Amino acid sequence: MAGPRFPDDFRWGTATAAHQIEGGNVNNDWWRWEHTPGSGCKESSGDACDSWHRWPDDVALLADLGFTDYRFSLEWSRIEPAPGERSMVALDRYARQCEALLAAGVEPVVTFHHFTTPLWLADRGGWEDDDTPARFAEYCSVAAGRLAGLMGRACTINEPSMVSSIGYLMGAFPPGKRDPEARRHVNEVMVRAHREAVTAIRAAAPGVPVGITLAMSDYQAVDGGEGRLERIRRGMEDVFFDATTGDDFVGVQTYSRTRVGPEGTLPNEAGVPELIMGYEYYPQALEATIRRAWDYTRGQIPILVTENGIGTDDDVQRIAYVRSALEGVLACLADGIDVRGYTYWSLLDNFEWAYGYGPRFGIVDCDRATFERTPKESARWLGRVARANALVD
Ligand code: GCO
Repeated sequence: MAGPRFPDDFRWGTATAAHQIEGGNVNNDWWRWEHTPGSGCKESSGDACDSWHRWPDDVALLADLGFTDYRFSLEWSRIEPAPGERSMVALDRYARQCEALLAAGVEPVVTFHHFTTPLWLADRGGWEDDDTPARFAEYCSVAAGRLAGLMGRACTINEPSMVSSIGYLMGAFPPGKRDPEARRHVNEVMVRAHREAVTAIRAAAPGVPVGITLAMSDYQAVDGGEGRLERIRRGMEDVFFDATTGDDFVGVQTYSRTRVGPEGTLPNEAGVPELIMGYEYYPQALEATIRRAWDYTRGQIPILVTENGIGTDDDVQRIAYVRSALEGVLACLADGIDVRGYTYWSLLDNFEWAYGYGPRFGIVDCDRATFERTPKESARWLGRVARANALVD
């Protein structure tokens, strides 16, 4: 039974990231972080889903399920293993994946930086180094040049606020700092890197829509938390929204909400189910954050939901979460907000950063020993939604 319809050209995708699915990404800061005593990482990413080799299986899954888009990331440390040294093997492997996706009727949505930074760059200061934007733009130019004509969209940096806040304020991502001044500076460097990458990608791959993908949360003030909320959101979202002027889209990535009191973020609300990630089951957050992104950018930039999903072993709960989130997207569309598509995180159960392989976000199970892919009911359901372009039962 087909329910409410989405716009005719609405995009339906799933997302992954190189380090979380490829396996053997040993030349980046995350691999070192995973093997650093005291980092808090639960386990090594190891072989992940072996997608460096098994990407044809992933492409076949996407085509069979009925998705129009596949968002994945390039591993900078594979493409540029040492400063100025380029791997044509790595570039060709990503190009072949894009060609196979296009042949299967699936558009590649390519992310150029998704949390991982080459070791050689991290050791030169990484995102604190004022030369990094130029190095990032050079890498983007090389990669976009090789993938010119093969990308449906290009995403410059994935969730810069997570890199800066968790890596430089909370100390739970590499380089494990707790330094508010460093975090503020990293935000500035990442803003410059985004702007320079947009220019580089547009020059190397003319015509490809380019944007940044931003971590958002439905921030809610509690008991006079408005002022604190604004200050938190400024460093987590607004500083990056301010850098999107002239972009072709902005990626909204939302999972839950954040309650804020006068002293800072508050614990989860009693009675609201808590997920393995530690935040609330709160699918309404997607509508709220789409509305905020649209309002903040004054409706000047189309919105693409580039991540939304749930880490859970309960696939029925996953379907319920996505259905609620999509109802929110329909409400935004009904109010004239230009939402271009929805991307579920993630295609595969994969390496959830410091949490390891515990949280399962995938609509497809990946056997940890055999790497066999097994679609869940949620994959078949979301594929039916994509094919019908409507919220089917
Ligand atoms: C991100 C993410 C993904 C996570 C997903 C679930 O893009 O922010 O960190 O890499 O796996 O958001 O937490």
